[in-house]
Amino acid sequence: MRTQVAIVGAGPAGLMLAHLLHLQGIESFILETRSRASIESTVRAGVIEQSTVDLMAATGVAGRLLKEGCPHHGIYLRFDGKNHFIDVFELMGGKTVMFYPQHEIIKDLVAACLAVGGDIRFEAQNVRVSDFDTDHPKVQFQHEGQEITLDCDFIAGCDGSQGICRNTIPASAYTIYDKIYPFSWFGILAEAPSAGKLIYSYHEKGFALVSSRTPNLQRMYFQVDPNDSVANWPDERIWAEFYARLEGEDGWTFESGKIIKKDIIGMRSYVIEPMQYGRMFLAGDAAHIIPPTGAKGLNLAIADVKHLADGLQHFYATGNTAELETYSSKCLRRIWRAEHFSWWMTSMLHRFPDDNKFQQKLQLSQLRYTASSHAAAYSLAENYAGFEG
Ligand code: FAD
Ligand code: DHB
Repeated sequence: MRTQVAIVGAGPAGLMLAHLLHLQGIESFILETRSRASIESTVRAGVIEQSTVDLMAATGVAGRLLKEGCPHHGIYLRFDGKNHFIDVFELMGGKTVMFYPQHEIIKDLVAACLAVGGDIRFEAQNVRVSDFDTDHPKVQFQHEGQEITLDCDFIAGCDGSQGICRNTIPASAYTIYDKIYPFSWFGILAEAPSAGKLIYSYHEKGFALVSSRTPNLQRMYFQVDPNDSVANWPDERIWAEFYARLEGEDGWTFESGKIIKKDIIGMRSYVIEPMQYGRMFLAGDAAHIIPPTGAKGLNLAIADVKHLADGLQHFYATGNTAELETYSSKCLRRIWRAEHFSWWMTSMLHRFPDDNKFQQKLQLSQLRYTASSHAAAYSLAENYAGFEG
């Protein structure tokens, strides 16, 4: 079999890349290890930046997002027992973020791809990439009991943080920059009326986050020890922890409900440089991981594949690889800004095991400054809405 661009992974990066390439008349082929039902139901991101919304709208896949997504004008920092609003919409002159679940974006992109005859092989097994240091790279895999070899011009490694593409690049060809944070997030999805607010809470018992998915589906997180396990947290203990971390003198409260999902999410920063080797290009979580505090990972994945699609389009139009050669450096500017922002938000809002009172005074001072200084609030808003410079 043969295609122009072989895409490994049907996450937001892989699917959006296939969609952008199709619009430019470039053929692609997606391999995905999981089933369609699984990728279309896995709960992950929820906060979508304006630039992602705009790209989806400009390329005709934002129909449901614009109808069902919920725009958020800003975020609340909760400390000193009160909510402090950072009006991202006002500060950014009308730019904001949208709440729309990642698995709904996946559904929209899978549907768009299949509607135009795109090829997605779900439940592919034993996926291998090779020969990307030549002009004729190859992807081999098993599908429905058959061994298949796919010849292509380029490979896009969009296979997430646990994928295989990154590890096939010779170790001497890249540098890894990483940081593991000394806590994880315990996440729940609960059938409860949504608070209608996005609240990042600083509390002596640790960080908590109130988010939502739909008006009747609340997504919430709190910081836990990285060795903790879901089994230690029966529902009553979870709600007691949220009420303790979100209490305050302002009387703000939220409703509990039936918990339908519990998970623990590691907190890590990771960047590989460069994000390309020969004719293989890494995009999204395959190339970088961001702690979820800044809500950036999906948005970066989409920004990466926009650059990649532009580079490929330039190559197919001219035969020149100049645009493709700048792929990493273009992506990495925005990635490092997001890494810094997520690290900054994480550092300001979480309890660290080696914290002392001095450190906590600094955190509180930073929170008070951010909530009361126009310049500091503007900086948070500019990064939260997505800084593309
Ligand atoms: P993935 O979504 O991981 O997709 C990779 C795909 O490749 C998967 O479907 C996988 O099955 C497949 N795959 C893996 N190995 C292979 C293989 N060998 N062969 C073929 N296929 C393979 N980001 C935001 O922007 N906003 C948020 O609000 C936000 N909230 C988050 C909350 C949580 C709790 C978490 C965990 C993440 C959050 N993120 C957020 C981050 C976001 O979910 C990820 O950054 C995003 O999924 C990255 O997309 P991707 O396509 O690069 O990778
Ligand atoms: C969500 C995730 C985040 O990382 C974040 O900063 C805000 C919201 C969410 O899953 O809704």
